[in-house]
Amino acid sequence: EHESTVSITVVGASGDLAKKKIFPALFALYYEGCLPEHFTIYGYARSKMTDGELRHMVSKTLTCRIDKRANCGEKMEEFLKRCFYHTGQYDSQEHFVALNKKLKEHEGGRLSNRLFYLSIPPNIFVDAVKCASSSASSLSGWTRVIVEKPFGRDSKTSAALTNSLKNYLEEDQIFRIDHYLGKELVENLSVLRFSNLIFEPLWSRQYIQNVQFIFSEDFGTEGRGGYFDHYGIIRDIMQNHLLQILALFAMETPVSLDAEDIRNEKVKVLRSMRPIQLEDVVIGQYKGTTTKGGVTYPSYTDDKTVPGDSLTPTFAAAALFIDNARWDGVPFLMKAGKALHTRSAEIRVQFRHVPGNLYNRNSGGSNLDRTTNELVIRVQPDEGIYLKINNKVPGLGMRLDQSHLNLLYSARYSKEIPDAYERLLLDAIEGERRLFIRSDELDAAWALFTPLLKEIEEKKMIPELYPYGSRGPVGAHYLAAKHNVQWGDL
Ligand code: BG6
Repeated sequence: EHESTVSITVVGASGDLAKKKIFPALFALYYEGCLPEHFTIYGYARSKMTDGELRHMVSKTLTCRIDKRANCGEKMEEFLKRCFYHTGQYDSQEHFVALNKKLKEHEGGRLSNRLFYLSIPPNIFVDAVKCASSSASSLSGWTRVIVEKPFGRDSKTSAALTNSLKNYLEEDQIFRIDHYLGKELVENLSVLRFSNLIFEPLWSRQYIQNVQFIFSEDFGTEGRGGYFDHYGIIRDIMQNHLLQILALFAMETPVSLDAEDIRNEKVKVLRSMRPIQLEDVVIGQYKGTTTKGGVTYPSYTDDKTVPGDSLTPTFAAAALFIDNARWDGVPFLMKAGKALHTRSAEIRVQFRHVPGNLYNRNSGGSNLDRTTNELVIRVQPDEGIYLKINNKVPGLGMRLDQSHLNLLYSARYSKEIPDAYERLLLDAIEGERRLFIRSDELDAAWALFTPLLKEIEEKKMIPELYPYGSRGPVGAHYLAAKHNVQWGDL
């Protein structure tokens, strides 16, 4: 095994994702000793750059993180020496042939495995895959390609992309990233459900009144408007990140922890979902605002890369339903938005009322009425899990309040939580597919959202405006109320 080598080529090496996420994640893996003994990293992009310039660029985004690790500087130097750069067009066989030659030199006759990370715009995915697979595939080991969304913008374009990719790659060579699956608390979801006696028996319509998946960011599109305007928040966050979490949350118990067993269950639950109805959706767009302190925030359409009359939603809330025995009638609410008052991602599970609750009798409308249990899984920031329970306020009288059984990661675990990209890159190198999206999952996800997106766009639905930095459009509250739900993040 130590005679094999892995070459990792970051295609689109000067892009934002490469700089912010991919190189830092690779360095963290190196630091942790998770990369194989023999490895080489290549940056590939169109701009002219020397190895030294790439190293300089990369070095600026590598960090030794909060715990100021020992010999980090030294490790960084070692790591950078293994990074190289190759200039080339994304659709040029010739340039990939030249890359192939360089990779071979580094591999020095060892069994070679090759990983290509496509960190490039979607219109050049297929060309790059074509060139990489025909001119720079490994002849002795595996060749794998990591691709990131957007995977098309509806069922049709997504299927077309899958088909084109399959002209050059087998399904098991394609690693479709949804980076939310690499987040620690999303990975933990299955552990929570399936390794604790007390949760799984409650995990159904019998005890759960509703489930909420909430994503918010406290900044707007700021410079990414060109990409974003073509997709909107539903495609950017709901159809992938939130729906993936929902699938893990709601799936049946898989046969085993094998990737195929897990993904089989995810597809099943996605295919049991009811098409989303327009009347179960609220869309919004942020507008500019000036705070009392005189700070001015732009509207979405102030973004220079966005058309002034854009109807693209930057906020959406939706109610989804799973028509199976476990979840019949339980609303799964999603809410996602940019330029809101806070940055967070969480799952909220609201349980039913206690039937015949002794402590609700004669309460005279006191605070006892609304106190159902709620389990909150906070994906970010301040990772944690807490359960709201009713508790007696200490003292001679009988007064109840709601308290939290609280697992705060920073208090419980001293180790820093790895970035999602670290886990995903490591899994791709190891061939672990559990956290990557299989093509049938992708199809099922698009099938759910495509008719809705078509309708919104054909009807030119006008998003409800909400001020930058607010809690989003009030319509989201009416939507929840219609399903007898209150958002938990108030
Ligand atoms: C990306 C979206 O997939 O996820 C972005 O395209 C969004 O719009 C980002 O900002 C959020 O990821 P994270 O890990 O910062 O929550």
